[in-house]
Amino acid sequence: MKIEKIICFLSIILIIGYATIVVESVYYVEMTPYADDACTVEKGESGVGYAFVVGECFGVGSFAPIVNNYIITLGDNNNNATFHQYQSSDNACSQANPIYDVTYQSGSCYNAPEYADNNMYPNIYNYVLVSIKENPTSMPQYAYKFTQYIDSNCATNPQWYFFYTNDTVFHYGNNDFSKFYCDEGEPYELYCEGSATNCTVNDQSRPCSRNVWAWHEHIYFLASC
Ligand SMILES: *[C@@H]1O[C@H](CO)[C@@H](O)[C@H](O)[C@H]1NC(C)=O
Ligand SMILES: *[C@@H]1O[C@H](CO)[C@@H](O)[C@H](O)[C@H]1NC(C)=O
Ligand SMILES: *[C@@H]1O[C@H](CO)[C@@H](O)[C@H](O)[C@H]1NC(C)=O
Repeated sequence: MKIEKIICFLSIILIIGYATIVVESVYYVEMTPYADDACTVEKGESGVGYAFVVGECFGVGSFAPIVNNYIITLGDNNNNATFHQYQSSDNACSQANPIYDVTYQSGSCYNAPEYADNNMYPNIYNYVLVSIKENPTSMPQYAYKFTQYIDSNCATNPQWYFFYTNDTVFHYGNNDFSKFYCDEGEPYELYCEGSATNCTVNDQSRPCSRNVWAWHEHIYFLASC
């Protein structure tokens, strides 16, 4: 009796485990950042990069009026990825507007798009190499990363993330700089006045928290390396 119960329990665990593995396979469109317009891998990664989940409705943007919602679809053989854009108020991605569709070819190099623009940090001018990956792991090890989730533990598949490679510096306004880097697994943002080298720690490791930019109360962000 007892043994049977244990076997039954173990079978259920196995079935759940198998189902989880099957369900967890998820595709992302990756945009890996490079400084040069040929996205030369040998020259190393630099600037702002992204990854976006395929086939789900998600929002991108900082403040309510300029949020857009997106669903990404893939071409045959994952040869391209189309970002279908929906209005800010359309959280369910119900009313497509094809004139705003943007398609990226896998393996091509583009000007980095401005999906990470939160009005405070204008994108630095880099390029991105687009690729389509199953359960991606190719983000550079040293990068300050912002990840968007829909669960309050930040434990499910992320909707999307953007990252800055080590030592990315933003210059905004006349006199203000932000510098992002990771050191020994901890993400840092330094705020600098006057010059990019005279900085104080402004913001370190932000744990999983409700969207601080408050455009959607069910969105959570994690800052990490
Ligand atoms: C994307 O790929 C599909 C084939 O898989 C093709 O029919 C379509 O025209 C491509 N879209 C663009 C914009 O290149
Ligand atoms: C990243 O930058 C920080 C600060 O500049 C430095 O301490 C760290 O060693 C760098 N990591 C790598 C892998 O270059
Ligand atoms: C660094 O900046 C502060 C003001 O933000 C200034 O008081 C200080 O003199 C600066 N130090 C150097 C070495 O420039």
